[in-house]
Amino acid sequence: MTAGADLRALNTLQLHATAQHLVTVSSSDQLQAEIAGLDEGAVPHVLGGGSNVILCDHLPGTTLLMAIRGRDVLSDDGTKVVIRVGAGESWHDLVVWCHHQSFHGFANLALIPGSVGGAPIQNIGAYGVEVAECIEAVHVVHQQTGERDCLSREDCEFRYRDSVFKHAAGAQWIITEVDFVLDREAPVEADYPTLRARLSEAELTHDAVLAAVISIRRERLPDPAITPNAGSFFKNPIISELDIDILRQSFPEVPVYPAPNDTVKISAAWLIDQLGWRGEERDGVKVSDDHALVLEGCGARSAAPWLALAEDIATSVKDAYNVSLELEPRVIGSTG
Ligand code: FAD
Ligand code: EPU
Repeated sequence: MTAGADLRALNTLQLHATAQHLVTVSSSDQLQAEIAGLDEGAVPHVLGGGSNVILCDHLPGTTLLMAIRGRDVLSDDGTKVVIRVGAGESWHDLVVWCHHQSFHGFANLALIPGSVGGAPIQNIGAYGVEVAECIEAVHVVHQQTGERDCLSREDCEFRYRDSVFKHAAGAQWIITEVDFVLDREAPVEADYPTLRARLSEAELTHDAVLAAVISIRRERLPDPAITPNAGSFFKNPIISELDIDILRQSFPEVPVYPAPNDTVKISAAWLIDQLGWRGEERDGVKVSDDHALVLEGCGARSAAPWLALAEDIATSVKDAYNVSLELEPRVIGSTG
């Protein structure tokens, strides 16, 4: 355990936060032992790769850094393969490893930063694929009782950038391992317009999709190892078909994507971009020149200026379009 640990290198916004006690967790048994040692009623903070969090200045109590490793093939019938992967494995390294084994399903999710345990939390998605499609089960430990459980895909209630883990019914679970089902014969998924535009008919292969996704991402998104960022700072709003009809009367060109149950998803980047936010810089945080949905750090050391700029952007979007934006990264800790 490290007391008063500096978390700067453990979050991609490179915020200068501290944890009162930082514990690196390498196994489920160790996790249960750490939980058993917590004060009664104490709730630990949980950190994976730190690529989707806004850390407040000080994280009181215990912060668990998830570092459980391991990739095991549980079953293989020659076509479908089920693998169990530790929460602390790197997501992108897993994607590349699976690709080299011809275990398909993940290629569109290449280069998303973070850990395997972080992936189910918001059901990571990119280029037409969401991780939920490949999840068979999620192994968890209760953050206060230490009880173990296993959640099926249905139990996880996956939605766009959402899962049970972000709600009261599932927020108590700490993910220790994830079981994925992959398919040697899975078809290539290349319908996402930006991706499809990169690929000729001859290139509709898993190799080409993986390479194209990596190259698109390198062009469009800042590398968090160089520029502090958390990817998209807001979710794309989901609104009713009635509301989109109203919005389209004033803004006929707003990009719209299908969503379930009589709703549509609209492009938050477009809404923000149209209001002229791209390139705007305040107090060490800037709206990316390359993508209006991405905020970049240029000197900010604490959460406050990120949250202030995000609030100003959300207010201007609400005023202009009557659409509410929701933060994608999760705020952790307290500013006290
Ligand atoms: P963290 O940031 O450490 O944590 C995120 C949340 O999950 C926190 O609430 C934390 O408490 C919780 N958590 C983490 N691990 C566990 C665990 N084991 N058990 C319980 N709770 C846990 N996301 C996308 O969906 N699609 C993208 O295309 C995408 N692109 C990105 C590009 C860039 C450049 C960046 C910086 C981020 C991007 N993201 C994207 C967001 C982010 O990478 C993902 O959400 C990622 O899955 C977060 O994983 P993490 O391990 O870093 O989680
Ligand atoms: N656009 C603009 N201005 C911009 C950028 C984009 O107007 O500055 C418009 C364009 O019309 C463009 C459209 O927005 O066609 C969509 O842009 P993009 O393909 O980049 O997708 P996105 O909706 O902005 C989402 C995810 C990304 C994911 C990509 C690719 C969310 C919140 N974001 O971005 O995920 O990588 O699609 O699938 O759903 C993340 O969650 O952190 C993330 C990076």
